[in-house]
Amino acid sequence: MRKIFLAFLLVAFIYPSAFAQNKNLPNIVVLATGGTIAGTGASATGSSYTAGKVRIEEMIDAVPNIRELANLKGEQTTNVGSQDMSVEVWLILANRINELLAKDDVDGIVITHGTDTQEETAFFLNLTVKSEKPVVLVSAMRSSTALSADGPLNLYNGVAVAASPKAKGKGVLVVINDAILSAHSVKKMLTTPVHAFMSPEHGQLGTANFGLVEFFHEPHGLHTINSQFSVVGVKSLPRVDIIYGCADVSTDLIDLMVKAGAKGIVIAGVGDGNINKGTLAAAKKATKKGTHIVRASRIPVGAVLIHGEVVDTDYGTVASDELSPQKARIVLMLALQQNKNISREELQELMINY
Ligand code: SIN
Repeated sequence: MRKIFLAFLLVAFIYPSAFAQNKNLPNIVVLATGGTIAGTGASATGSSYTAGKVRIEEMIDAVPNIRELANLKGEQTTNVGSQDMSVEVWLILANRINELLAKDDVDGIVITHGTDTQEETAFFLNLTVKSEKPVVLVSAMRSSTALSADGPLNLYNGVAVAASPKAKGKGVLVVINDAILSAHSVKKMLTTPVHAFMSPEHGQLGTANFGLVEFFHEPHGLHTINSQFSVVGVKSLPRVDIIYGCADVSTDLIDLMVKAGAKGIVIAGVGDGNINKGTLAAAKKATKKGTHIVRASRIPVGAVLIHGEVVDTDYGTVASDELSPQKARIVLMLALQQNKNISREELQELMINY
């Protein structure tokens, strides 16, 4: 944390407004966090590589004609595989983005990221960035040294979207494989192919095709300037854990998580957010004692209904509606940070509205 913060301070003070100015182009800051897009491997045709190796200026310089789209300034926020992304870095990113976008001479933000937790970072920022200016996450399924690396074109298209007035007010966006996807609806659906990202419920918002940006849908859910959440001055968020549902799932997990310090729990249940009788009984006990429990689903597509097989008011639980377990966890963490005494009903509203 100390290292990340010092690096951030160094960049912020040495380069207060260091755009190479072409007055006719928008000014975009690229915040780099690592991932496969910054990864390198020993062989262009091997599947093995290490994420988070290449630094941001090198990544930008590797993309032909990218500086014809915008004046670019890179900042290295961190350089990790996104399996190591953390709440700590989310808070640093959100506060830095808010600071940058408050400046008249910053028109948009691009964040380079690993694909594994990209949708979580996008959704967290969707709820905590307070600006209508474009914020775009880009990533890659193939490392920078791989044959047909997809990172350079994704970065090119991401900058084109961040530089486009059409992207204003659309919330945080993910640009990958020529698609523009909303933070609310984007999901990594496939483990390794370049078309891994989709919005199965609502579809993609638009396309970015060699820098040509088109939108044909609006995003779902409250976001950015209409979000009630703020992380100004926030240094950590309450712990929220996820239980993965399966046949005969161990029924002591809720108790163990609460004992370990969880202030809320999301169940990635089977089907419509269901879970076995023993876990439901534990959930009822925990919600009575004040721990919020959200029922989401391990099924990748579709909403969890309020009062399906589980009648939520009987157990004190909340249905995640359209939010995946990992996105419901973010709403629950932010909600508990804002109000640790939030009611079940208020939390249910948040799951539906965001
Ligand atoms: C990561 O998420 O950092 C690794 C996988 C990827 O970026 O595709």
